[in-house]
Amino acid sequence: MCGIIGYTGKNKVKPIIIDALTTLEYRGYDSAGMAVYNPDKKRTEVYKCAGRVRDLSKVCEDKNIDSTCGIGHTRWATHGGVCDANAHPHTQGSVTVVHNGIIENYKDLVEEYDLASSLKSETDTEVAAAVLDRCHAETGDPKKAITKAVRKLKGTFALVILFDGEPDVIYSIRNVSPIVATLSEEGAMLASDLTALTRFTNKYFVVPEYTIVRMTRDSVTMWTLDGREVEPEYLTMDWEKNSADKNGYPFYMEKEIMEQPKAIRDTISGRTKAGIPNFEADNIPDSLFTDCERICVVACGTAMHAGLVFQSLVKTRLQMHIDVEMASEFMYSDPVIDDKTLVIAVSQSGETIDTLEALKYARRKGARSLAIINVKGSSIARESDYVMYTNAGPEIAVASTKAYTTQLAVFYLIVYKMAHIRGVMDDDEVRECIRNLKRVPEVIGSVLDGRKAVHVIARGLLEAKDLFMIGRGLDYSILLEGSLKLKEVSYIHSEAYASGELKHGPIALITDNTPVVAVVTQERLMSKELSNIREVKSRGAAIALFIKADLIQQSTREFDTFMLPNLPDELMVFPASVALQLLAYYVSSDKGFDVDKPRNLAKVVTVE
Ligand code: M6R
Repeated sequence: MCGIIGYTGKNKVKPIIIDALTTLEYRGYDSAGMAVYNPDKKRTEVYKCAGRVRDLSKVCEDKNIDSTCGIGHTRWATHGGVCDANAHPHTQGSVTVVHNGIIENYKDLVEEYDLASSLKSETDTEVAAAVLDRCHAETGDPKKAITKAVRKLKGTFALVILFDGEPDVIYSIRNVSPIVATLSEEGAMLASDLTALTRFTNKYFVVPEYTIVRMTRDSVTMWTLDGREVEPEYLTMDWEKNSADKNGYPFYMEKEIMEQPKAIRDTISGRTKAGIPNFEADNIPDSLFTDCERICVVACGTAMHAGLVFQSLVKTRLQMHIDVEMASEFMYSDPVIDDKTLVIAVSQSGETIDTLEALKYARRKGARSLAIINVKGSSIARESDYVMYTNAGPEIAVASTKAYTTQLAVFYLIVYKMAHIRGVMDDDEVRECIRNLKRVPEVIGSVLDGRKAVHVIARGLLEAKDLFMIGRGLDYSILLEGSLKLKEVSYIHSEAYASGELKHGPIALITDNTPVVAVVTQERLMSKELSNIREVKSRGAAIALFIKADLIQQSTREFDTFMLPNLPDELMVFPASVALQLLAYYVSSDKGFDVDKPRNLAKVVTVE
């Protein structure tokens, strides 16, 4: 979950580290630190503090840091509270380390190496540093020390290491937790994720697991643990150079909401031929979709919510068996998986450990797999048989927005593709669906143009402590996501409920202090939805209604209403979801919160 950066090159390292950590802060933001080699004093110096990267900047403000080699870290606490001592980097003897992941056997290592009295923090990371230092003392060689030390470590780790005796050299090794690296004219650089590299280069490689990396200012060398040299496999990043900047928006979340028309266009583009879904560019054979008898989606959070929309579509359009599983529960629920199951893993980051482990489990059980991923070359993408990338560009705000709607776009393409090749829909029907899908960016554009009206509704929710979101069918699926969005950025307790289920219990909570957000976009469910809305209204709830334009009638005008532009009902999830994202955004920003970095959260969840 933490952000990691390492640079050795021609340039002064301090601004590079501060800049990269600011970009990476979305991975964790409770503490920050950096270590640089001081050539005058011939030793590594560490600057760190609890707090944000801006606090770290202040800590090093008046320090004369001339070094051109250093490592940095922004933390999401796992072991030990949030305090200066627990912030990374950690030094033990000649070794200084930053770490992402969890060393599961750290307690055993403390005993084995009798470390208790020498530790200055409560972290598992410092234990890893101490083991590395012991191994360095025994072997006198960084490579041998790393080889020996990692054989002792259990758990997930991305370690970036400085050894005192080797100025200007950075070492790294990883298991599961990601590291990407690059070598450019400016020097060598590595990071926990791509966003930190975009300003430097569009070429990068993913460090393979259990491979030792040694970076100098003009070289990157890698070896397996048995000493075999490994060549980096360079990939090209198709994100634009400044795509990770805010571009004048106060928050990334707003910027990313506004980017959705383009993101969806880019995701659909190249995936149809003569109006029919075509996945040749993704190298996906039709057999992946014809040979399966059942589908299982594994994902977490927002990505899992995208799966729920897919589930409705698969049932309606294909009448196929489909499960959508929380990846964190999947393995422990004895899921029914076999070689006739198509497992679809969905993830923005491609690094969510629960989703990765669920995918691995399903593959071991014989399932074929497809991953829907935003970050190219990420762990889940590499683990899966096939990948479809959502071309959303970097998503920095912790609250996922454009990743979700682009995941939906891919799911719609898959459903229409499957319906076509399984003979459920003919060419004309599919072409009509694709024509409508291609209208989605424009329709989202008009929701964005009308965002002031959502802002007005948001102002009515600022004082709410608890809130319900209600709808039926597809509306209910997207409300689960709308509700997650609101709670994570506004800290309002929000529950999404299927409207008809409300009176089986939760309606007891409705008072005139419990606003209700209702979404009505499905004509066949409308009259029942409106009855449910009236049930809560008559118990005092203030209603904010998001309704498809064509469904507005005299009787719905009594509510605070946002009119959603028309699309066929099946596609209304797009404008409705965007309106709910805006709602969450405005509530959070009007309350003065740090919208992009909600309390306790991190963007990439690499611990189980
Ligand atoms: O990177 P992923 O899509 O795998 O992340 C999954 C969830 O952690 C993520 O969607 C999370 O729920 C977001 N904070 C929601 O906004």
